[in-house]
Amino acid sequence: MTTPKIERLDIRSSDDVVRVRQLARTLALGAGLSLVDQTKIITAASELARNTLDYGGGGFVVAELVEASGRRGLRLTFEDKGPGIPDIDAALKDGFTTGKGMGLGLGGARRLSNEFSIHSKPGEGTKVVIARWK
Ligand SMILES: Nc1ncnc2c1ncn2[C@@H]1O[C@H](COP(=O)(O)OP(=O)(O)O)[C@@H](O)[C@H]1O
Ligand SMILES: [Mg+2]
Repeated sequence: MTTPKIERLDIRSSDDVVRVRQLARTLALGAGLSLVDQTKIITAASELARNTLDYGGGGFVVAELVEASGRRGLRLTFEDKGPGIPDIDAALKDGFTTGKGMGLGLGGARRLSNEFSIHSKPGEGTKVVIARWK
């Protein structure tokens, strides 16, 4: 099987969260990431997919193999049309949760990634982009 350069997956169930992990693993391998870096991006992907499902009411991820100045990497974009995040700085703080989680997902995903950006508007939804480079 050839590794696709770009793939989109809906996130509507816990099974989909597992599929996101598997997709992240496949593409991280394809990008040539080390085992440690594979684990980092898979863990981050898992946290963000969970958030998309639990707080965003579902959505999708776009996964891309990317290349810039000879470096390969994996970029993942999570999007939902849920309630949004009113205070992003607060949401990024370790221990902040409005649910039953540990409040480590967003901050953890940021630490585990080489690139991290989050855009969210109350009432419109949330978009989180992460990347890990070789
Ligand atoms: N996609 C999202 N849509 C709306 N709110 C979100 C989303 N992702 C995260 N949040 C908010 O940010 C908080 C912190 O997220 P996170 O760090 O993953 O911790 P946890 O999932 O344990 O609550 C969540 O409790 C929630 O309030
Ligand atoms: Mg979370």
